[in-house]
Amino acid sequence: MKVICFVNNKGGVGKTSSVQNVGAGLARKGFKVVLIDVDPQSNLTISFGIDKYAVEHDAGDFMLGSKTFEEVAMSSDNLSIIPASDKLDKKERVLQGENMYHTFLRRKLRAIESFDYCLIDCPPALGAMTVNALYASDYFFVPLQAEFFSYEGIRKILHFTAEIQQETDLRLGGVFATRFNPRERRKLSRDLVDSTAQQLGDRYMANCNIRVNIAVSEAQAAGEDVFSYAPTSNSAKDYEALTDEIIQRTTHG
Ligand SMILES: Nc1ncnc2c1ncn2[C@@H]1O[C@H](COP(=O)(O)OP(=O)(O)OP(=O)(O)O)[C@@H](O)[C@H]1O
Ligand SMILES: [Mg+2]
Repeated sequence: MKVICFVNNKGGVGKTSSVQNVGAGLARKGFKVVLIDVDPQSNLTISFGIDKYAVEHDAGDFMLGSKTFEEVAMSSDNLSIIPASDKLDKKERVLQGENMYHTFLRRKLRAIESFDYCLIDCPPALGAMTVNALYASDYFFVPLQAEFFSYEGIRKILHFTAEIQQETDLRLGGVFATRFNPRERRKLSRDLVDSTAQQLGDRYMANCNIRVNIAVSEAQAAGEDVFSYAPTSNSAKDYEALTDEIIQRTTHG
């Protein structure tokens, strides 16, 4: 099983949308996929049409070991989700008090090795949940919102992950732009993306700009992914390209 997390301490950059739609993209290609929502905001859970107040057992119970995968997961076809709930922030605090708390998710994932891919949606903070996700992952991807694309922003994340990389096999899968507007009149987001891309070299996923498109949020409001909600949209095309690139970038070596 390949474990991949989407990380950015900045909020609203497209982490959840990417986990949801890349997860759906992988499942459509026939892979067995499990998604884990470790964000107390529960946006990934909600984007699948799940009521976070009705979730009895969440990712926190799975990480802390009080519930098994079978007890927490919600599954359909080849896509399963370990949801978040409104009680996850309390469990995050319990987790923080545990010895070796950063390794809890990694240890639990050994029980679900039969999946092809595990994608983890992180909160917009470099706290206990994101640290657990990074320690559990083989690869991390960084979505950056095109308007705020900056090397400074990503430097902080790469500095943070470098320490974890010293203790694990965690690798940077790549950095991609979200809410990208190719016709931006002020050329602002284009220029920012171009200059940052130069500094990132091949870590920047040049063919995976996720264009700004209302279909992403409309699909979430409907509890669907972009492929089923708007199959001919730019969002479906962009997320298909991102899915393919992620398969490629996580397949070698
Ligand atoms: N390509 C896009 N075009 C238009 N809207 C988008 C796009 N991607 C994401 N959005 C919308 O932007 C908002 C933030 O996206 P998302 O929730 O994926 O970001 P996030 O990084 O997970 O945020 P947080 O850090 O709060 O968890 C959502 O309302 C989402 O529907
Ligand atoms: Mg999110």
